[in-house]
Amino acid sequence: MQRFWRVYRDEEVVRRFKEINYLEKDREFCRHDFQHFLDVARILAILCFENKFSFPRELIYLTALLHDLGRVEEYLYGLNHALIGAEVAREILEKYQEFVQEEIFLITEAIRGHREQNSEGFTRLLYLADKLSRPCLTCKVIDKCHKKEEMLLLHQEKFY
Ligand SMILES: [Fe+2]
Repeated sequence: MQRFWRVYRDEEVVRRFKEINYLEKDREFCRHDFQHFLDVARILAILCFENKFSFPRELIYLTALLHDLGRVEEYLYGLNHALIGAEVAREILEKYQEFVQEEIFLITEAIRGHREQNSEGFTRLLYLADKLSRPCLTCKVIDKCHKKEEMLLLHQEKFY
């Protein structure tokens, strides 16, 4: 996990988590804070195990750590955080010169597709981990959430 810990302490990663915290300070819906990253990482690791995906834990945790960093541009400029996030993740990972292209591709493609309901493979597991990390069934603002139908279906195990 040595490479993970280096990226975890990366100044751009830390800066983005802080900025997302600031931009979401008045948000009534789910936040994309450090707890969310941890929840997604743990659920993603379980889903990989259950689905016999033998990716190293380091890549699973890196994917979860980086998957929402594009939220900054989504809040500031209305851009798609999954597409931006994939490019942000690529720049951060390439900076370290210790990830092979296959690893960067695995992580960035999962981030790029993690909003899509019809994704496959590791991307699908990231999508599921992202959604399953949310306590929708007891959420006070679920009736105002634009993802209500998708989230409730998922939490009622109708397509999980
Ligand atoms: Fe997320």
